[in-house]
Amino acid sequence: MTSSPAGGGIAVVGPGAIGGTIAAWLSKSPLVGDLTLCARTPLDRLVVETPVGTIEATPRVITDPAQVVAPVDWVLVATKAYDVEATAGWLAPLVGPQTRLAVLQNGVEHVERFAPYVDPARITPVVVDIPAERAAPGRIHHRRSGTLVVPAGPDGDAFVALFAESPIQASTTDDFLTVAWTKLALNCAGAVCALTSRPAGVVEAPGMAEVMRGMVRECVLVGRAEGAVLGDDLPDHVVDRSRASPPDSINSLLGDRLAGRPMEWDARNGVIVRKGAVHGIATPFNQMAATILHVFA
Ligand SMILES: NC(=O)c1ccc[n+]([C@@H]2O[C@H](COP(=O)([O-])OP(=O)(O)OC[C@H]3O[C@@H](n4cnc5c(N)ncnc54)[C@H](OP(=O)(O)O)[C@@H]3O)[C@@H](O)[C@H]2O)c1
Repeated sequence: MTSSPAGGGIAVVGPGAIGGTIAAWLSKSPLVGDLTLCARTPLDRLVVETPVGTIEATPRVITDPAQVVAPVDWVLVATKAYDVEATAGWLAPLVGPQTRLAVLQNGVEHVERFAPYVDPARITPVVVDIPAERAAPGRIHHRRSGTLVVPAGPDGDAFVALFAESPIQASTTDDFLTVAWTKLALNCAGAVCALTSRPAGVVEAPGMAEVMRGMVRECVLVGRAEGAVLGDDLPDHVVDRSRASPPDSINSLLGDRLAGRPMEWDARNGVIVRKGAVHGIATPFNQMAATILHVFA
């Protein structure tokens, strides 16, 4: 292990679609040293189909926190938002006095989720926009290059440097809050797919676009109350984006529901209800979505 921001040990906790994709790219980078995958389900190697060819990599894979040798420079967590408690078992041995933790998850509560386990000052929240799917443990399709956005500052710069040699566009922003709430606005309306068990084309069903706008309007009001700068056009933008996507495309919430897996309904809709309540903002569309999806989760 070294103390160089991009040259020391990196552990990726949760090598699924996102964790596996970023680990594959990190394994190719001459700027990145020792790489460890902390997995729940064992995998022999990574085989990631990317927009520019297939990457095969054989980083060290461990499946038990007792196998961690020493703290690392960076822990990159890419588990689902509902798996934080289980993920925490990895943090005690991986996090030392110099370790930084990057949280690559959906939602707006990256730091809050991990604050019980790691000093919030050492947590870098990451807004992820990398389209990737996992066919089997370690077998991943990374469809387009994608982006990672982190708050500006020394840790943000160090995180971005990790991806200098990859086609993933990592960047910093002076207004992370707005970036995270804008992504949440896109994600919250996706609940209609899981609620109806229909892919993206459900936006054309009678009244559905207005339901989606209602969800996004609530997100905008709550996000603004939290300090994000969100335009009045966001509800229409979300609906237009949905109409422009292939009608048979399946978002992760629907994919998880169809597969009988837990869903990130709390990180995508429940959070709007919870934070809305703090600000005295009514959120009936998201409340209904969260309530119904909770039944399936
Ligand atoms: N996929 C995308 O295109 C995409 C795009 C933007 C944002 N995101 C966000 O990125 C985050 C990760 O999503 P994903 O699609 O990569 O999910 P995923 O494919 O389900 O990967 C999650 C990984 O975490 C592992 N895991 C769960 N508990 C663990 C534990 N205790 N220790 C170690 N590993 C553990 C899972 O192991 P198993 O192998 O046992 O399941 C799985 O490999 C989510 O918040 C998601 O919303 C995803």
